[in-house]
Amino acid sequence: MMRMSLVIAVVFFGFIVHGSSAAFNPVDSFLIACGSSQNVSFQGQAFVPDSFQSSFLLKSEGDTVFSATDFSAPSPIYRSLRIFTEPSSYEFDIRQKGRHWVRLYFHPLPNSGHDLRSAPLTVVTENFVLLNNFTFKNQNQSYLFKEYIVNVTSDSLSINFVPSNNSITFVNAIEVVSVPDYLIPDQALDLSPATPFSGLSEVALETIYRLNMGGPLLTPQNDTLGRTWENDVKYLHVNSSAVNVSASPGTIKYPPGVTAETAPNLVYATAEAMGNPNVANLNFNVTWVFSVDPSFVYLVRLHFCDIVSMAMNDLVFNVYINSDIAIASLDLSSKTGGLAVPYYKDFISNSSTNSSTMYVSVGPDVMANTANAILNGLEIMKISNGAGSLDGPSPVDGFLLKSRSKKSKTGIVIGSVVGAAVAMGFMALCWWCFMARKSKTSTHPSHPWLSLPLYGNSQTMTKGSTISQKSGTASCVSLASTNLGRLFTFQEIMDATNKFDESLLLGVGGFGKVYKGTLDDGIYVAIKRGNPRSEQGLAEFHTEIEMLSKLRHRHLVSLIGYCDERSEMVLVYEYMANGPLRSHLYGTELPSLSWKQRLEICIGAARGLHYLHTGAAQSIIHRDVKTTNILLDENFVAKVADFGLSKTGPSLDQTHVSTAVKGSFGYLDPEYFRRQQLTEKSDVYSFGVVLMEVLCSRPALNPVLPREQVNIAEWAMTWQKKGMLDHIMDPALVGKISPASLRKFGETAEKCLAEQGVDRPTMGDVLWNLEYALQLEETSSALTDIDENSTNHIADIPLQPFDNSINMIDVAHSGTDDDAEDVTTSAVFSQLVNPRGR
Ligand SMILES: *[C@@H]1O[C@H](CO)[C@@H](O)[C@H](O)[C@H]1NC(C)=O
Ligand SMILES: *[C@@H]1O[C@H](CO)[C@@H](O)[C@H](O)[C@H]1NC(C)=O
Ligand SMILES: *[C@@H]1O[C@H](CO)[C@@H](O)[C@H](O)[C@H]1NC(C)=O
Repeated sequence: MMRMSLVIAVVFFGFIVHGSSAAFNPVDSFLIACGSSQNVSFQGQAFVPDSFQSSFLLKSEGDTVFSATDFSAPSPIYRSLRIFTEPSSYEFDIRQKGRHWVRLYFHPLPNSGHDLRSAPLTVVTENFVLLNNFTFKNQNQSYLFKEYIVNVTSDSLSINFVPSNNSITFVNAIEVVSVPDYLIPDQALDLSPATPFSGLSEVALETIYRLNMGGPLLTPQNDTLGRTWENDVKYLHVNSSAVNVSASPGTIKYPPGVTAETAPNLVYATAEAMGNPNVANLNFNVTWVFSVDPSFVYLVRLHFCDIVSMAMNDLVFNVYINSDIAIASLDLSSKTGGLAVPYYKDFISNSSTNSSTMYVSVGPDVMANTANAILNGLEIMKISNGAGSLDGPSPVDGFLLKSRSKKSKTGIVIGSVVGAAVAMGFMALCWWCFMARKSKTSTHPSHPWLSLPLYGNSQTMTKGSTISQKSGTASCVSLASTNLGRLFTFQEIMDATNKFDESLLLGVGGFGKVYKGTLDDGIYVAIKRGNPRSEQGLAEFHTEIEMLSKLRHRHLVSLIGYCDERSEMVLVYEYMANGPLRSHLYGTELPSLSWKQRLEICIGAARGLHYLHTGAAQSIIHRDVKTTNILLDENFVAKVADFGLSKTGPSLDQTHVSTAVKGSFGYLDPEYFRRQQLTEKSDVYSFGVVLMEVLCSRPALNPVLPREQVNIAEWAMTWQKKGMLDHIMDPALVGKISPASLRKFGETAEKCLAEQGVDRPTMGDVLWNLEYALQLEETSSALTDIDENSTNHIADIPLQPFDNSINMIDVAHSGTDDDAEDVTTSAVFSQLVNPRGR
């Protein structure tokens, strides 16, 4: 009976659509109808043709086809499109840095003369992968609308459309519009476990669901930020569990800090409340069910506004996301100080255990006067993963590395060896040359981006640019003078990869594809062909490539050379026949590694990292240590790869480097994440995660496991603290490891995973301890009666510094310049610790 009075039966839909009085006015606003010959009016806004380039630039390597218009498409925005045969980009001049909407519209027009339904769609920005290989084929949809929020941190944003080999790609319309910065704060509440989360300013978001509970569809005309809000009914778990309630939009009282940009009053003026299910027990939840990709983490924003209560403190209810309590005993009126006052809250969550569903529920609080619960609006946004992707493998996969066929003999090979910065910079240079060459035919006049700072060699650059503009044939400014490795011709690269044969594809990243190549001398290499980029990061690129060519170590993957012809950007690396360590641990059918092999691999990787930290004049922090970045050669020698995120470490007078948090979820140093201060100890933490992964043969993060097991660092630490790591280790190892070796290994991993960086060992200490664990394993029988603690002091003995020389080594004979060092350390080592030797 009580409930009946609560259900406001009259649903009032007398909406008067009116703009908010102080509507947000976006500084940047680009609405582009691609391939159109005239302005297109869509949802109250005018989209200009992409031939009308005043404040943005369309760049393409190849011909772009401007397609016929199709009047059968239901809305005008989908009636034209542009087809790209080569990597192409739209580059926007950004007047105000900060978050921007990127909205993309796709519809494969049937009469375009191309099979657009099979054309893969891959869209990337400088820092993020928005869409990765989507095709309409085998989907029952013929329209695709995508909405993203990306933080633009420079004066331009380029949106790149990357066709696959031998294929084309297309787009119908693009929006790039400023978002008020306060819309998405940096922090939210993480639900598993309940801890504050910060770092949202570093990620890109994709809108997955945006619902107006109990209300009508709101189109961009009804929203000052041009958003669409759909009705929630189709997501209700049990339709009859909810009833829609509404108030007059005019009665909504926005408090300070919440505006129509947070959500329009039409969202707050309607809600779903608990329905009358005709059952005696009024204690039930109203639940919505969403399908989500379990490999991503989501930002969930819940909008509330108490439009049902007659009095303050009447409505008290619980809010759940999956089985987690998100807000317990929520009393809206006490939070907001009144009725009909909007309130919202942000959470970080992933899918529920063992599934690709997310549940959001509201239900009555047992202590409340009245059994009711409401929800007015809901937004679920996907958070880009550690690899900067919104569409691709799980965060633990890193740079969108696609594992090849599990059974393939040649195997899963070297992945994304060098990261974004290198790729981008190189692209930029080539793009610049390309555009310079093309400038004669280009309809667009020259652009300010021609002023490029070139690392240390501005003279050459100026000269080069003059030549290329005048002759129209000169190639790019050569980097050869800087002695960065072998310069390949594009023809050589084409020959090596059989014209980029897709069957030789080893991996795909947002920054390009990696192919297995064969040089004419029969040597296998990994060839990375980058995607076109803007001019950004050129200096960074030079620094990176300089750094890479300096780093020569048996346990670091080497750069062999590059090609900068024909606006191509190609990097050539050492080929690692046995691929990433991860594929030998789980997820494939490769034979299980023995304990000794695992220890040797860990020791190799530790050596590589130790060299990075201490070998060069200035220490280098890898920043993305994980099992996909540890590659194995044909002899299972481990080499550390992918310095794309590397940063030079703190100089002597500093203790840390302040920097944006980068890296992969599951491996991130919690201290770095909290304080954004990078030290070598962040790599040590990540390496600790790798050690646990190697022992347990499971991913760093596995969202389908029960909550306490999701994160290997936490899970393994609880067992290590009990001294019972053998309970969770790879069953294939059980009974085959010397307990002393396991103990040493567990202790080493535990120290690496210490909360505070200062409590973690250096990579040098880790290396010694792992060597020791190996020694214990090899001599386990002889050891049984020796007190191993007596030898523990070895960890305190500093290592000999490595050779700092930065010679450019001829790659054909390269690779093992630390052999001498290996011999020395092994000798010292065995003298010190080999129990039989004492
Ligand atoms: C399209 O709209 C823009 C600005 O909204 C205007 O400057 C331009 O003249 C229009 N073009 C056509 C073909 O109507
Ligand atoms: C965008 O990124 C910059 C640099 O990382 C950061 O300072 C800024 O706060 C971010 N903006 C927003 C709105 O998150
Ligand atoms: C509502 O859902 C939550 C989370 O799944 C659950 O813990 C709670 O018991 C449910 N309440 C009722 C009354 O079913």
